[in-house]
Amino acid sequence: MCGIVGYIGKNPAVPVLLDGLRRLEYRGYDSAGVATITDGAIETRKRTGRIANLAALLKDSPLAGETGISHTRWATHGGVTDENAHPHLDESGRLAICHNGVIENYATLRDQLTREGHIFTGQTDTEVLAHLIGKHYDALKTPHGKARLVEALREALRGVVGTYGIVLMHADVPDAIVGARRGSPLVLGVGKGENFFASDVSAIVAHTREAVYLKDFDIAVIGRDEFEISSLLGGASGFEVTKVEFSAEDVSKGDYPHYMLKEIFEQPETIRDAMRGRLSREEATAKLGGLGMTPGELRDIDRIIITGCGTAAHAAMCGEYIIEALAHVPVEVEFASEFRYRQLPLPKNTLVFCVSQSGETADTLAALREAKRKGLRALGICNNVASTVARESDGGVYMHAGPEIGVAATKSFTSQVTILTLIALLLGRIRHLRTTEGLQIINELEALPDKVRAILKQDDHIKAIAQKYAKATAMMFLGRQFNYPAALEGALKMKEISYIHASGHPSAELKHGIIALITPEVPTIVIAPEDSVLEKNISNIEEVRARKGPIIAIGTEGCTKLQRVADDFIGIPHCPDYLSPILTAIPLQLLAYHTAVALGCDVDKPRNLAKSVTVE
Ligand code: G6P
Repeated sequence: MCGIVGYIGKNPAVPVLLDGLRRLEYRGYDSAGVATITDGAIETRKRTGRIANLAALLKDSPLAGETGISHTRWATHGGVTDENAHPHLDESGRLAICHNGVIENYATLRDQLTREGHIFTGQTDTEVLAHLIGKHYDALKTPHGKARLVEALREALRGVVGTYGIVLMHADVPDAIVGARRGSPLVLGVGKGENFFASDVSAIVAHTREAVYLKDFDIAVIGRDEFEISSLLGGASGFEVTKVEFSAEDVSKGDYPHYMLKEIFEQPETIRDAMRGRLSREEATAKLGGLGMTPGELRDIDRIIITGCGTAAHAAMCGEYIIEALAHVPVEVEFASEFRYRQLPLPKNTLVFCVSQSGETADTLAALREAKRKGLRALGICNNVASTVARESDGGVYMHAGPEIGVAATKSFTSQVTILTLIALLLGRIRHLRTTEGLQIINELEALPDKVRAILKQDDHIKAIAQKYAKATAMMFLGRQFNYPAALEGALKMKEISYIHASGHPSAELKHGIIALITPEVPTIVIAPEDSVLEKNISNIEEVRARKGPIIAIGTEGCTKLQRVADDFIGIPHCPDYLSPILTAIPLQLLAYHTAVALGCDVDKPRNLAKSVTVE
């Protein structure tokens, strides 16, 4: 999704801004731009495509200045053109703005401004915002300097409906950049003799690890040596300077060719980190203090709703099976985009979990707010501790998986499923699970990292399988029970990064339609560990084989029954059925990764996708 970086300090702004934009590349974008204040005027450079295109333009046509703002755009309003890229200028050409979010009433505002004589060069909602702020700035006689810019912004935003994370600057006020947010994240980086704005702290962590995570309706002004934060609604706004948890090292690829591969290989540690300090052998249960709920309150829960988008929704579906199996609590999973508009009956003792790696996904956030509006307790399962979901939820569990940069979510999925298993254990122990059963679950959880390590050792084998089938026209992913969501996730990974059409289904649904698609060119990936439905899965495999469809089977190591019916086989260590989606996810991720590499796809930055979708 769109990214923002702003810099004011003693160094040339452009290298800092380009470096920041590169660090946000993973979020997905289709054009990029930068503006600086130089010789009392604002100059911009903008280009569609990769940041490399913008860097080449800046090489031919450099920009001086120690105050600048920059942006990576993921098109919503208006096509992917140089004109529509940010920063945008106002009518006078002396005010520049970068914006994330959506201005819902931009068409009305644009008509009004056009009637007043404003001329627009592109089709974006952001350009309308630039003109609106510029109009207010030009109309104000007092105050002067940055206070005038702040006042103009405040007045303009009064007439705006929508969401925004904004940074702006004016040629008259070269010693300041102003930022504001409502619904789109914005961070202020506190440096020495320099200060920063960014939509994501990873853009500036190479320069400073001191950050202020702005809240909705905050308005912040940064100078070289100082910053001020007030409220758009008037008056002061409290803030805290926090230490960023991770370093620039953590957001580098290390020796791996892609972030995605690095993150797949981090999973023995990230799964361990999701459990660290949360398992009590003494009480044979999970300790999840962040939920902020007493055993009595947890005992009173009659129903759970888990919501999220994309991979997080698939993890939620795994959670549905696991919580129902271990805790016997009815669970419903709903995509956040549906939940927010659905008339779901919500009895009083319903607990809502919002699952989101970034904690900034617009639909998940809206679902969280809707649940709270309905008086329900809404908890978050997030990775980003400074995120809006983390801040607005009534409590929750952090994933502690470290930054996930690859657009295709990998380690966040296994962390989310691990945490949902901890929740199942806790709820189960409060209800009916005996101490011995609780201990057995803990043993199995603790054995997971080594089992994941064993699967990762098969990387070359999985790569060979991926290369064998990379030319496939489509792929089917089948699984039952706990591994039905794993099939959905396997298919999502494959289509996200290799662009091969793939779909996931419950294995038995095969004969109700999907079987019509089976041909020798369409491999079927069947996830069939040794569990209560292994035989059923094998029958489904036979149905595919009878139509000459190639079979890649993911099953328990040494399972000869499955090996006999598969063209290719990937073994996972033995584990209880409720934990199997954590293990089967690993070969599915590697299969998608190596297929995409074999096809020459841009693994970490797949086309049209964004790491975190902050618009509806
Ligand atoms: C985007 C990403 C997906 C991700 C989903 C939810 O669509 O491309 O990989 O699963 O958002 O993201 P979240 O940050 O809420 O987990």
